[in-house]
Amino acid sequence: MPGRDKKLQRFIDAIEAGIQARAADFPDAMLMASRIFLAMKDIGDVDGKNTPARLDTCGHLESAYHQAYKGPDPIPGLTDAFAAIEPALAWNRRPEAAQVAGDFYNNHANAIIVGKGGLEVRQDVLIGVSLVAPEITYPRHHHPPEELYVVLSPGEWMQDDKPMVAKRSGDLVHNPPNVWHSMQAREAPLLAIWCLWINE
Ligand SMILES: [Fe+2]
Repeated sequence: MPGRDKKLQRFIDAIEAGIQARAADFPDAMLMASRIFLAMKDIGDVDGKNTPARLDTCGHLESAYHQAYKGPDPIPGLTDAFAAIEPALAWNRRPEAAQVAGDFYNNHANAIIVGKGGLEVRQDVLIGVSLVAPEITYPRHHHPPEELYVVLSPGEWMQDDKPMVAKRSGDLVHNPPNVWHSMQAREAPLLAIWCLWINE
């Protein structure tokens, strides 16, 4: 079985470091985080059959990186590690995007990093990325798996239908199972990594 690509390993280590850096602020998320990164010590199917693809929205990546590089450590390092694997990702739209009114369809992009369609396929962990163009709202959604986002570039975030809250580079957003959530880019594009524990 082939080993894990060094760039992917560096990204996984960097996302773990980004989460650990905020462990004291988000204790409720740490059980899931430790499960994820313990599981990730075993390598899944790295025979990635995904075909790299970009969407027009990916033109906002540089601007999002510019914001992320201004963030606290270890976010600049995480941004570098992400930028190194980004050319290998198959960017796509959210599956239900065509049903969303307004400009969302052509102004967002998602990619799976770990999971089906990503660089390493496995059944226990799903890691991906969302990019949202300036002034665009990512629609309210929910899902059974618990989820942890790492915010790379700033934006507004909603949880449990409460008012939007500003999140800065390096902040975490922990969504318990099935809680409603959404995010909104302001003048800068919003870039965030998400991790889900799907093994139950
Ligand atoms: Fe989500």
